[in-house]
Amino acid sequence: MSEKLEPLPGTSDIWEPETSQWVFLESTARDIFPRYGYGELRTPIFERTDVFVRSIGTETDVVQKEMYTFADRGGRSLTLRPEGTAGVMRAIANQGLAEGEERRVFYMGPMFRGERPAAGRRRQFHQVGVEAVGRASAAMDAECIAMLHHFLTELGVGDGTILVNTRGTAADRPVVAEALKTYFTPLKDQLCPDCQRRLGANVWRLLDCKIESCQPLMAGAPRITDLLGEESKAFFAQVCATLDTLGVPYRVEPRLVRGLDYYIHTVFEVTHGGLGAQNAIAAGGRYAITLPGNADKAIEGVGFAAGMERLLMARESLGLKAAAAAGVQLYVVGLGSRAQAAALPLAQILRTNGFRTLADTGARSMKAQMRAADRAGARLALILGDNELDRNTVVVKDLKASTQEECPRAGLEARLAAILAPEAC
Ligand code: HAM
Repeated sequence: MSEKLEPLPGTSDIWEPETSQWVFLESTARDIFPRYGYGELRTPIFERTDVFVRSIGTETDVVQKEMYTFADRGGRSLTLRPEGTAGVMRAIANQGLAEGEERRVFYMGPMFRGERPAAGRRRQFHQVGVEAVGRASAAMDAECIAMLHHFLTELGVGDGTILVNTRGTAADRPVVAEALKTYFTPLKDQLCPDCQRRLGANVWRLLDCKIESCQPLMAGAPRITDLLGEESKAFFAQVCATLDTLGVPYRVEPRLVRGLDYYIHTVFEVTHGGLGAQNAIAAGGRYAITLPGNADKAIEGVGFAAGMERLLMARESLGLKAAAAAGVQLYVVGLGSRAQAAALPLAQILRTNGFRTLADTGARSMKAQMRAADRAGARLALILGDNELDRNTVVVKDLKASTQEECPRAGLEARLAAILAPEAC
């Protein structure tokens, strides 16, 4: 027996009717985001490794442990994109952005992280995300969160919890880092090995630790919001005030720092009760990214990404299902060699005229063809034999009602449409 070729762990094939659920997510994104001035951008699935390392941050889990990095035949280090923001920034930097110019893009597609597969945690997963760059304004952050809330509501999962926080400006970093170090250093022995290392390298990352034994220590850590300078506090207060004005429900979570290093000011995450441990359905924030080749100029923007698998899980937990893709309507059955030769051309004309049609391609018996029509889910079988060809007619058999009638070829489409109504053709 040959071995079954299953997809790799943490990846999967997506078949109908599940594909229809994906199409629903994608079309909702394409409906909502342009209402806010966003246009779709498609970036390559792999990029130079540098594009990700420099923007995501060398101390992050994504860069340290999770990237699929390989050398191509020319010895260049390439990486399968672990997220969308870095590639979008590379694309925008490449095009150039004039002073004061704003650019708004959305994207969707597969991302890759070598994480331990679990429910809601995959190695190839999909994100739908947005980035708005070129302007540093609290109103823009609030608008971005409002758009996410609008999108989630449209998907039926607007009941998720929106958590917001701020990481302040670059000037705030050393002050917060110092306070965190002061708090965590006496607790070093109780921290997990990763956190012990981060204590020296990037103490902010400690707050993002997911290890169970570290959680009680995190709970007592200083609140970032209490340590920030006046500018950062004012910026965050304006984000919250604008969210209030826009009627977006949220909760301030003073220890939310997010797992990527490019964030400044606003960070946010949406969790949903319908999921297990991996309950973040979307996350984002304001960032400043400096790219290789663009060294002295950071690109500032705000955006988010939602995990598409997790959005679907959240919808499923609420019993929400988009309509499945429309199935086959007609199956052309040919009896005898003349009719069999005419079956495919008839099917082709019917398809051109809007009917979802299959025809036998294997010169099979009538019984086998009728069985195939049934298996394909066709509503009507169109039966062609020598008699029908001579009379220029087709026998239309209703597989649901088990009735049949002989229809003239002229006007056949109108008759089929009438029988199929109210089904859409
Ligand atoms: P992130 O928090 O790394 O942010 O990922 C965003 C979302 O992608 C998560 O909330 C989750 O729903 C989904 N996700 C992440 N990893 C996995 C996985 N292994 N399996 C399934 N779903 C996953 C970013 O990626 C940022 N680029 C978001 C952003 C855009 N910030 C600013 N602009």
